[in-house]
Amino acid sequence: MVFVNENYLKLKGGYLFPEIGRRVEAFKQANPQLVDRIIPCGIGDVTEPLPPAVIKAMHDAVDELAKRDTFRGYGPGSGYDFLKKAIVENDFSARNIVIELDEIFISDGSKCDCGAILDIFGKDNRLAITNPVYPVYVDTNVMAGNTGLGNDDGSYEGIEYLPCTAENDFVPAIPTKPVELIYLCYPNNPTGTMINHDQLRAWVDYALANDAIILYDVAYEAYVSDETLPRSIYEIEGAKKCAIEFHSFSKNAGFTGVRCGYTVCPKDVHAVTKGGERIKLHSLWTRRWNTKSNGVSYPVQRGAEAIYSTEGKKQVRILVDYYMANAALLRKGCEESGMKVYGGIHSPYVWVVCPSGTDSWGVFDKLLTQLQIVTTPGAGFGSCGEGYFRISAFNSLENIKEAVNRLSGPVFSK
Ligand code: MLT
Repeated sequence: MVFVNENYLKLKGGYLFPEIGRRVEAFKQANPQLVDRIIPCGIGDVTEPLPPAVIKAMHDAVDELAKRDTFRGYGPGSGYDFLKKAIVENDFSARNIVIELDEIFISDGSKCDCGAILDIFGKDNRLAITNPVYPVYVDTNVMAGNTGLGNDDGSYEGIEYLPCTAENDFVPAIPTKPVELIYLCYPNNPTGTMINHDQLRAWVDYALANDAIILYDVAYEAYVSDETLPRSIYEIEGAKKCAIEFHSFSKNAGFTGVRCGYTVCPKDVHAVTKGGERIKLHSLWTRRWNTKSNGVSYPVQRGAEAIYSTEGKKQVRILVDYYMANAALLRKGCEESGMKVYGGIHSPYVWVVCPSGTDSWGVFDKLLTQLQIVTTPGAGFGSCGEGYFRISAFNSLENIKEAVNRLSGPVFSK
């Protein structure tokens, strides 16, 4: 008899986005005449093609692989230096942040790394996770056996939930109970809101003072439209001693299907053994990569490198601006329909207060069945998400205009 990982049995329900997909599929089956009307604004999946510079670089890389002289086999597990150099120069040196090449680990995306990073942490860390939250942080901890059982409201024993509400501008207060492994994500998914330097500094100071580690997800940093706001936690002094940062090329350069991102694990971040010995997490993460991965494919890494070329940067800017214009339309449309809206200024997500009397799955159903707009119910991101729904601006301009037009109709007007 083979034993299963029973931690999986603690998971409450399916992963949020497949569950939404299931409900949309059921609606399509029951209403085939409405299938073409459906506007998907649920999962944050990009719709616009890859930047031309990326496409060319990937084509060229495939051509290299087609010839004996330029063929490459296994690459370095944590990524090629050509991509790491482009990252260091553009994402860090350009902002006066010193990150070394071997502190960058190229991966198939930040979602994957957010889960994989748990390999290098022990089991008894006190977790602090925002509520609402990108469900991956919670579910991967459940799977890894870092939590207790689930409760009816979707929370799990053993996690210190940090409420993010309109009252605290969706930036959690420093916890009163001690915590060790802290997940933060800004621009925030799902609320679409941002953190400022002082707020982020308070968290870094907390981590430094309490020997805690911050897992900082900046998958949406390209959407920060105010230069005074932090695009990396390493803009904060001391963060290189207490933070690991996750980056993605999905949301800026449209790599949701191509798959590439990177994690920064500075050499100064330490955790301890039960015996009290301080261990560099960088060594463990390197070891993990060398053992469990052969890295991301060469054409994909060449494509990612092209994001940082002069042309690539311009093309990525156009993509980001395109989705941000959509977000502005969604914000305006919802407000004109009498809804209270957050986010959507430094992020492609608009976080909308549910019209009174309807909970977030109720709004989801209403929008799907009456307007054929797919959104994400706030409750799917945690109990503090109840009372909100998220609209993704990742769509064509035409679809967003049509969604706004439908939202202005009787379903949600005052
Ligand atoms: C989301 O919709 O929250 C994201 O697309 C999920 C993801 O990036 O994995």
